[in-house]
Amino acid sequence: VSSLDSRRSTRLAQAMLCLDDFEPKAKRHLPKPLYGYISGGSETNASLRNNLDAFQAYAFRPRILQDVSKRSTETTLFGQTFTAPFGIAPMGISALMAYRGDIVLAAGAAQVGIPMIMSGSSLIRLEEVVAAAPATWFQAYLPGEPERIDALVDRVAAAGFGTLLLTVDTATLPNRENNIRAGFSTPLRPSLALAWQGVSHPQWTIGTFLRTIARHGIPHFENSYATRGAPIIASNVTRDFGRRDHLNWSHLERIRNRWNGKLIVKGILHPDDAARAAETGADGVIVSNHGGRQLDGAISPLAALPEIVERLGDRIPIMIDGGFRRGTDIIKALALGARFVFVGRPFLYAAAVAGLPGVLRAADILKSELHSNMALLGVTTIEQISRGHLVSA
Ligand code: FNR
Repeated sequence: VSSLDSRRSTRLAQAMLCLDDFEPKAKRHLPKPLYGYISGGSETNASLRNNLDAFQAYAFRPRILQDVSKRSTETTLFGQTFTAPFGIAPMGISALMAYRGDIVLAAGAAQVGIPMIMSGSSLIRLEEVVAAAPATWFQAYLPGEPERIDALVDRVAAAGFGTLLLTVDTATLPNRENNIRAGFSTPLRPSLALAWQGVSHPQWTIGTFLRTIARHGIPHFENSYATRGAPIIASNVTRDFGRRDHLNWSHLERIRNRWNGKLIVKGILHPDDAARAAETGADGVIVSNHGGRQLDGAISPLAALPEIVERLGDRIPIMIDGGFRRGTDIIKALALGARFVFVGRPFLYAAAVAGLPGVLRAADILKSELHSNMALLGVTTIEQISRGHLVSA
């Protein structure tokens, strides 16, 4: 069964021609509440739409006759060489979308030679993900209490992670009306509607949900991996949020003093905050509006990028995520001064519909788009991509 399954996944993955092709497949494959949870933003979805549209503000000004016969998409970040300037963004409860989803994403990224960030709202113990893919980065949501912050940092270090990322754009729960409309809740509550979703999506039910329960127990989200070390980990979405609204820069300082690895702050949109993060000792920032899932109407990361680049200069690497679907999207951000790009939803859709072959295919598509578009732009290395290759459209 499993080799039939993997042959089917490989065939399906190969039929995908661009990242956007995975979404309609995932919509059919996943129960409505889960597809709704991935695809949605907050309130009017203005930021979600805006993230995708932002790329149209720039047009390329390619150079010709450059001899681009030898090209490479390789780049270095924090002293490490990656085969492409993109990675997989942290996404919560991935194991509900694909069986052992975090491991599928992490192992896929490792195989390709790109970074993957494990979400702090994962259902799989962080030690298991590190065992499968040692280079994985870890994203934490900050609990408010200092002793829990310390416990979390120590646990992440003991598990063997070298890079810790703090997501800071989640002071409280946003209004994600679409989750309620789609019937999504944490934990997923048993209901007739959910039972029907299970029956009408048999492949997901058996392939993912039942096997997840058999292996990890009923997924729930009030367990803190930091303080309890329970088999199911999540810092997550419920009680902890209430205590997160008093977080401030002193908490970041506390973590900086305790954590010896690379420290990255995710969810920055203002140049002053980027500068403050650098001054507090962050090794990098990710310009992000959380994929349009937090403050609705927040500026798109691409639009926020130039001012942040201007303020920070070369002090620390500036990374970005939100709405990246094409190699050309990535090239635009690099031209504006980003060092690295993270991609969220498409990789989760790819894992949901086609498992590991899906993740590998998605990475391959993006890489080959980069490869050919670099030639058309007239560059042979990632470092050659510059502001001069863009004009305001
Ligand atoms: C997210 N995102 C997210 N971010 C984070 O720091 N911790 C998390 O647990 C999650 N969880 C999560 C779940 C799902 C289903 C999605 C779609 C997103 C945000 C994510 O890391 C990233 O910022 C955006 O997804 C990037 O935008 P695109 O590429 O999805 O448009």
